[in-house]
Amino acid sequence: MLSCIVAVYRDWGIGADGTQPVALHADRRRFAQLTRGAAVIVGRRTLADFPGGRPLKGRVNIVLSRRGIAADGIVPARSVEEAVRAAAEHDKAFVIGGASVYRVMLPYCDEVYVTKVDAQPVSDSFFPDLDADPAWTVAEAEEPAQEDGISYRFLRYVRQPAEAEPEPQQPEEKETDRAD
Ligand SMILES: NC(=O)c1ccc[n+]([C@@H]2O[C@H](COP(=O)([O-])OP(=O)(O)OC[C@H]3O[C@@H](n4cnc5c(N)ncnc54)[C@H](OP(=O)(O)O)[C@@H]3O)[C@@H](O)[C@H]2O)c1
Repeated sequence: MLSCIVAVYRDWGIGADGTQPVALHADRRRFAQLTRGAAVIVGRRTLADFPGGRPLKGRVNIVLSRRGIAADGIVPARSVEEAVRAAAEHDKAFVIGGASVYRVMLPYCDEVYVTKVDAQPVSDSFFPDLDADPAWTVAEAEEPAQEDGISYRFLRYVRQPAEAEPEPQQPEEKETDRAD
């Protein structure tokens, strides 16, 4: 199954100038726990924001870029389809951003781990507002907690199953319609 993981501010902003203006240790820990041993799908720009621009240890790093990049420890993917194929080779895979990668990969995800950070720094990158999208519903929500005076909350959203098409109504047969 393909999952997504993201930390959002009050306005569903996720970053500015290529980085996260407010980042919480608790969120980093949760991210590490959930993604350890899994594959992650990451955009070329977000990879550049990792320490030393290096891929994450202990995970298979599938890096989306149209430039055909190659580096130690990464699995390059030049398209969404290539990324999805590479992820399917692993039991568990997470889309880990950034904004453009979330946008193109979200339709392939069935669940989204969201950390809601109760702060609103100026963002230039955003995640789609799942609360405003009837396709998504909250399956799990932990109690809010605090770090350095900033409140945050861990949630898991799941995609609502598509509604079944209503059966076409058969017109009722009237006695008078009968030929016999
Ligand atoms: N809050 C969070 O949880 C979180 C998590 C991750 C990132 N972020 C934030 O997100 C922001 C970065 O987002 P971003 O949108 O600028 O960058 P990004 O999504 O990390 O990377 C963009 C790059 O990915 C490649 N790409 C995207 N779509 C592609 C496709 N369909 N096919 C092939 N390659 C594709 C392109 O690379 P090429 O240009 O090489 O072709 C594109 O320039 C930063 O502010 C970062 O801090 C926040």
